[in-house]
Amino acid sequence: AMMVPLDPCNKPTSQRRITEGDTVVVYERHDSMRAVTVSAAGVLQNRFGVFRHADWLGRHFGSKVFSSGGVGGKGGRKAGGGFVHLLAPTPELWTLVLSHRTQILYIADISLVVAYLELVPGCVLLESGTGSGSLTTSLARAVAPHGRVYTFDFHDQRADSAREDFEKNGLSSLITVAVRDIQGEGFPDEYSGAADAVFLDLPQPWLAIPSAGTMLRQDGVLCSFSPCIEQVQRACETMRSCFTVVES
Ligand SMILES: C[S@@+](CC[C@H](N)C(=O)[O-])C[C@H]1O[C@@H](n2cnc3c(N)ncnc32)[C@H](O)[C@@H]1O
Repeated sequence: AMMVPLDPCNKPTSQRRITEGDTVVVYERHDSMRAVTVSAAGVLQNRFGVFRHADWLGRHFGSKVFSSGGVGGKGGRKAGGGFVHLLAPTPELWTLVLSHRTQILYIADISLVVAYLELVPGCVLLESGTGSGSLTTSLARAVAPHGRVYTFDFHDQRADSAREDFEKNGLSSLITVAVRDIQGEGFPDEYSGAADAVFLDLPQPWLAIPSAGTMLRQDGVLCSFSPCIEQVQRACETMRSCFTVVES
């Protein structure tokens, strides 16, 4: 069975050892890291040397591992002095290494959104669009272990890629990805009155706001993110017609 790094049912990564199938963030420097799926036969080659995944199995997340050759000699543990650190794929690091399929939210905005949404473990949250899933991983951690994030994007391929990423990061039990035109159709009726919070990162959020209002339980929170002030103004106008307190 594949052990999953962030799966709330498993141990926190600080107590876990790296096993086959895990996603690790290979950290060279703060401006140079990448996500790697560990496999027994896997080999990573970079400017610091050649690293065999087999040498990583059983180590703790956070471990410093040395190249097994390729730079300045063979076999020796410190051959060539090449090393990397194997870090757990936390939402903060994932945001830095994920493949950009869309514009994404970065940690400064993500932390603000998570705070404004008043998320606590157990919350049920609706999100659209999923985009590259940068925000979604942080939302999932905030509602873990028993909450759930239902995230919607109308772009099939993006939804598929996001689903794969969440699976790789052990978040499948917390996140459901669905394909839906949220601006055109709103959120599915089955979540009516069931959401603790709704988050929108859509080009025309005002089209989805009436539906978002219907999905929220009494005293629930809606947060919408837009890069342009015209979008913010229009979203706020629509919110004023169906919400009690509106802040921007
Ligand atoms: C800027 S991206 C979201 C980025 C995301 N917050 C992140 O951090 O990775 C906006 C997404 O909204 C999706 N989208 C645009 N219009 C939509 C609609 N009507 N219904 C659902 N998704 C839509 C796009 O496909 C795109 O993936």
